[in-house]
Amino acid sequence: MTRRQAIRLGAVGALGVAIGGVGLSQTGLPWGESATAGARLADPEALRSSGGILAVDLVAAHHRTSIAGRDARVLAYGESLPGRTWRVRPGDRIDVRLRNELDTPTNLHTHGLAVSPRGNGDNPFLSIDPGESIDYTFQLPEDHPTGVAWYHPHRHGTVADQLFGGLYGALIVEDDDVPASNERVLTISDITLTASGDVAPASQQDVMMGREGQLLLVNGQHRPSISARPGDIERWRVINACTSRYIRFAVPGQELHLLGMDMGRASAPREISDVLLPPGGRADLLVALSPGTAEVQTLGHDRGGMGMMGGGLSGSAVLATLSVTGGTAAPPIGLANERDAPDLRGATIAGRREIAFTMSMGMRGRMMDMGFDGRAFDIDRIDQRVDAGAVEEWIISNPTPMDHPFHLHVWPMQVIEADGQALDEPTWRDVVNVPAQGRVRVLVDFSRNPGRSVYHCHILDHEDAGMMASVEVG
Ligand code: C2O
Ligand code: CU
Repeated sequence: MTRRQAIRLGAVGALGVAIGGVGLSQTGLPWGESATAGARLADPEALRSSGGILAVDLVAAHHRTSIAGRDARVLAYGESLPGRTWRVRPGDRIDVRLRNELDTPTNLHTHGLAVSPRGNGDNPFLSIDPGESIDYTFQLPEDHPTGVAWYHPHRHGTVADQLFGGLYGALIVEDDDVPASNERVLTISDITLTASGDVAPASQQDVMMGREGQLLLVNGQHRPSISARPGDIERWRVINACTSRYIRFAVPGQELHLLGMDMGRASAPREISDVLLPPGGRADLLVALSPGTAEVQTLGHDRGGMGMMGGGLSGSAVLATLSVTGGTAAPPIGLANERDAPDLRGATIAGRREIAFTMSMGMRGRMMDMGFDGRAFDIDRIDQRVDAGAVEEWIISNPTPMDHPFHLHVWPMQVIEADGQALDEPTWRDVVNVPAQGRVRVLVDFSRNPGRSVYHCHILDHEDAGMMASVEVG
């Protein structure tokens, strides 16, 4: 049996299996020092739950580091960019004390968790002023999906600047049915530095199109190098933490298998050549390594544009280099279990609604008014009222000339139609790209997590400009 067959057929080998990732920086260096081009990819320090609880002391602050060999003044959670990786299991509770040492208000979103939006839970309406602290609690149910989540600020009006500045971190909800030789988190972000090393501010044009940074980073490093051993099957948790840039992730010459996206595991891994990650999207990958040197790339994505006013091309670029050398490692290992994903098709649909992204010529000095259904976000308005317990079908349409990634908090979406095609396999996402002039259909089960939350464009410049709306379930 070849390794490829082993992955497809789900044969399991027990040798060389280490589940749960690498806890320490592989360079052994503190973050700032390792962040130069060509340096080895560092793995953010991991924080693991114990006894069912993960307690996190989180400080959002200004931070001095080195990026692409330059002195940079950025933002960070604690002493590293990205912040530490939180590793939890279904049923765990995450207690976070967040202290705001920035100059602008902030808050926290656990993107991908299906947890309560109320009180000091995953509540995007909270605002923590500079100098203040807040205690958050996120309780994951025992049957919480496993996969790749992340955390980032979500205070309306400051989200794009704070992410672009460096505030993001990985949040892994672990499973134990995927043997892998090694696990890596690859948090992809972009940033632009001014000549003096500050984070470049966004122009009105940037905001309209969604800013893209000049430097692409993986775990805060510009074009780091990854070394691996032939024969190993590594698990890569890839997060698109860019403010607006789409990533079409690929490693030409190496064999990639997609285990799932966002928090949605596929029933079996599927071999792919690349995967499109809209801003906010994640991929859970198995990489079957063969000898040689390869580039970890984004192949780019044309996300449309506003004609004369500019375009939103997420260009292709090298993210990292990969060299696979040395003796062949353990015999092939593969994925143990096929999974049965839940499927809402067949449920009674209590309601259907249509929601449209909208952009129009701006009023009151703005170039463009952005929102849903012709309205910009208003924190005091409830845009959708849903009965607790309802399963609804939402049709999200995009009559605008550019792509927008649609993100719904705390209630996962089962995508049933995209690009005009019905999807056969249960496909669970929390971010779904809605192409220019296109639409997607999703089913959402509102039987958990009553309360008020939001959906928005994950081009975070658009979100801050008003492309967000609220949902009240109850
Ligand atoms: Cu990752 Cu509401 O965002
Ligand atoms: Cu948008």
